[in-house]
Amino acid sequence: MRTLIKGGTVLDTTGGITADVLVEDEKIAAVTAPGVFDEAAADEIIDATDRYVLPGGIDAHTHMEMPFGGTFSHDTFGTGTTAAAWGGTTTIIDFAVQAKGTSLLSTLDKWHEKADGNCAIDYGFHMIVSDVNDTTLKEMETCIDGGVGSFKMFMAYPGVFYSTDGEILRAMQKARETGATIMMHAENGIAIDELAAQAVASGKTDPVQHGLVRPPELEGEATSRAITLAKVTGAPLYIVHLSAAQALAAVAQARGEGQNVFAETCPQYLYLSIEDMAKPDFEGAKFVASPPLREKKHQADLWRGLRTNDLSVVSTDHCPFCFKDQKELGRTDFRAIPNGMPGVEHRMDLLHQGVVAGEISLGRWVEACSTTPARMFGLYPRKGVLAPGSDADIVIYDPTARQTLSAATHHMNVDYSAYEGFELTGKVEIVLSRGKIVVSPAGFSGSTTHGKFLSRDLCQYLN
Ligand code: URP
Ligand code: ZN
Ligand code: ZN
Repeated sequence: MRTLIKGGTVLDTTGGITADVLVEDEKIAAVTAPGVFDEAAADEIIDATDRYVLPGGIDAHTHMEMPFGGTFSHDTFGTGTTAAAWGGTTTIIDFAVQAKGTSLLSTLDKWHEKADGNCAIDYGFHMIVSDVNDTTLKEMETCIDGGVGSFKMFMAYPGVFYSTDGEILRAMQKARETGATIMMHAENGIAIDELAAQAVASGKTDPVQHGLVRPPELEGEATSRAITLAKVTGAPLYIVHLSAAQALAAVAQARGEGQNVFAETCPQYLYLSIEDMAKPDFEGAKFVASPPLREKKHQADLWRGLRTNDLSVVSTDHCPFCFKDQKELGRTDFRAIPNGMPGVEHRMDLLHQGVVAGEISLGRWVEACSTTPARMFGLYPRKGVLAPGSDADIVIYDPTARQTLSAATHHMNVDYSAYEGFELTGKVEIVLSRGKIVVSPAGFSGSTTHGKFLSRDLCQYLN
């Protein structure tokens, strides 16, 4: 099967050129000057005139069916990956969650059971390590052999996911030995839990308190501490969902000193703020996630970080909980609101809006949303680039189409949109996943058995 995508502006990290893309079965066969390939030899022709043609998005931070606070994030692997495809994301990397007292390997088996045969696009896993001991440290090696070479740890959520500095140090030593990446949720959870208890004791129970008891300094402090532990051990470190200027400054300094420190941010930190968490009638609960949304002034720093590459990846941290029934759990105490927000469908569009607004270049859009996550998590050049031999994960994007985001039209399995009413310029038109058209103006034509597990290599950026 040969598909010719002709006349589009083909994007990579340097910008765009007018070119044709030839797809053969699941792979890209060629990227040529326009008209080089004989149209008569193609089985299908897609006219991409006035459209961008870019590598499918890679969302390196999602939580489908994630257990949290007695409930589960509301997208299954099936619904979540379908929504991702609608938004031009053709790969997700989700987190398998080790519960305390269980093994990493049984956790990985469990996540394979949930995802295998149930995804519309390709997917990989990171591992959340909640229980550091001799067995789990040894099991990290088996995870790496199984294509899971990145391990998330938490400096937040004492008693649940939290690891002590000593535990983090031990895991980092193993990461140094094996070349694995430690991904860090960097918030000082001990201090936060104390502030949260004090707030509730004084009758402050509404959602905005979630943000107020998590000041940005406590993200900055934890980020610096994680960086110090990574320096002492020599481990590669990736800070997840960075939201605060203080944390960014710590990352920038470490990178300036040549340390293998990387960071991602998420669209919610670029576009939303703590003001959203203060919305009346418990509406603020829709925006409860950790780290919390910050004051608006942080947003300019984050956009700058994206330009300077101190923030090298944009992921969504997609972790949807319905407003009704799930966020409700914390109506009388913000500490019981399940943490997380939906977003997997809108990352490509929201970051394209950054191009429209002049915050980032076209090349940077592709880099932060596709090419860098591929290299960061050992998927390049299979993913993240339109080059001969790469998987034909391709987005055909109309840069001038207008759309309004809404829960009424999105495909995520959640009853609200964090971006309700946002008016955007640019829209995904056609999506191919390994050569198959899965989204087009005719609708979704994929299937939730199409996605394959991606056994990943280690980080491809280490110096
Ligand atoms: O609030 C969030 N971010 N929920 C998902 C879990 C995590 O910490 O990434
Ligand atoms: Zn986290
Ligand atoms: Zn997360």
